[in-house]
Parts: sequence; structure tokens; C-alpha cells
Amino acid sequence: MENIILIGFMGCGKSTVGLRLSYRLRRTIIDTDKEIEKEERRTISDIFATDGEAYFRDRETAILRKLKDGVNNQIISVGGGLPVREENRALLHELGQVFYLCAEGRTIYERVKDDTTRPLLQVDDPLTRINSLIKERDPYYRAAADVVITVDDRSFTEILDEIERNVK
Ligand code: S3P
Repeated sequence: MENIILIGFMGCGKSTVGLRLSYRLRRTIIDTDKEIEKEERRTISDIFATDGEAYFRDRETAILRKLKDGVNNQIISVGGGLPVREENRALLHELGQVFYLCAEGRTIYERVKDDTTRPLLQVDDPLTRINSLIKERDPYYRAAADVVITVDDRSFTEILDEIERNVK
């Protein structure tokens, strides 16, 4: 069976949806952010602060290349910025069926407004930042996706049902 890959903006629900899906489908889940933190033995915030975003982006590509050699039948949830890089979109496509959890800025803002673990959103006006980043990234997410799932104002059960109906 192919891997199921979850992409989408920070706070769109990739981790929670991934975890619940892993119970439903009895598949294990891998999260690229957590893999990077494990390998680097430090948090994403530390990586951004010490080595910068470009270093982190290279680590994301390296993780995907590694997963490609030998990961099957799993759920893979990836960091919000990962599909922006063309090489990463190609790797995602090779890795499995890609689901884009699509959310509006207001949905994201409500979920991440008190979160300090996402370096890109530690700004004075996170909502404006979120909206402009979504605008910039949405075309990349759509280019990478096999299936687009809208998550605004929907329960996790509805979202999971729709994903399950679309799994190949
Ligand atoms: C990022 C999203 C984060 C994490 C890093 C950068 C982004 O992952 O990879 O903070 O560029 O959107 P989540 O989408 O899991 O929050």
C-alpha cells in the first residue's frame, strides 16, 4: 500500500488528523518535523535561531530522501513549508498519495495564536503574516496534492471520513 501524506499550512490539523488516521487505518505515523528534531537533538525553534531557515529546509529534503528509501504503508505528516521546494514536491509524489488539508487564515489564526513553537509566526501581526503566507503557498500545496480536503468549520470525524473515502 502507498503511504498517505498530509500537507498544509501550520495549524491546519496535520498532526491531529494524522494521529487519528493512524488509529483508524492501523498504520504508523511519521512527522518530518519530529524526525528532524530527533536527528538534530534540538527543537525547530533552536534550529531556526542558530542555523537559519535555509539549513532547516535542507534538512527537510534530506528526510524525504531518506523516507523514500524504504517507507511504505505509513502516514507521513510534513512541515507546512516543505512542499514549497520543487524537489520536495517531486519526492512527495514518489512517496505516496498526497492530501492537502486546506484552511483559511482565520481558522489557522485561531489555532496557532497562542503557540510560540513556530518561528515564522512570532511577529507583531500573525494574522497578516498567515494570510500572505497562505496566498504564497496555496499554489504549491495544490501542485503537490492528489486530493484537497477543506477543513474550515468541519469536525475531525468529517475530515477523516473524507480522507478515508479517497484513499486509493
Ligand atoms: C513551518 C511549519 C512547521 C515547521 C517550521 C516551519 C512552515 O511545521 O516545519 O516551523 O514553514 O510553515 P507545522 O506545519 O507542522 O507547524
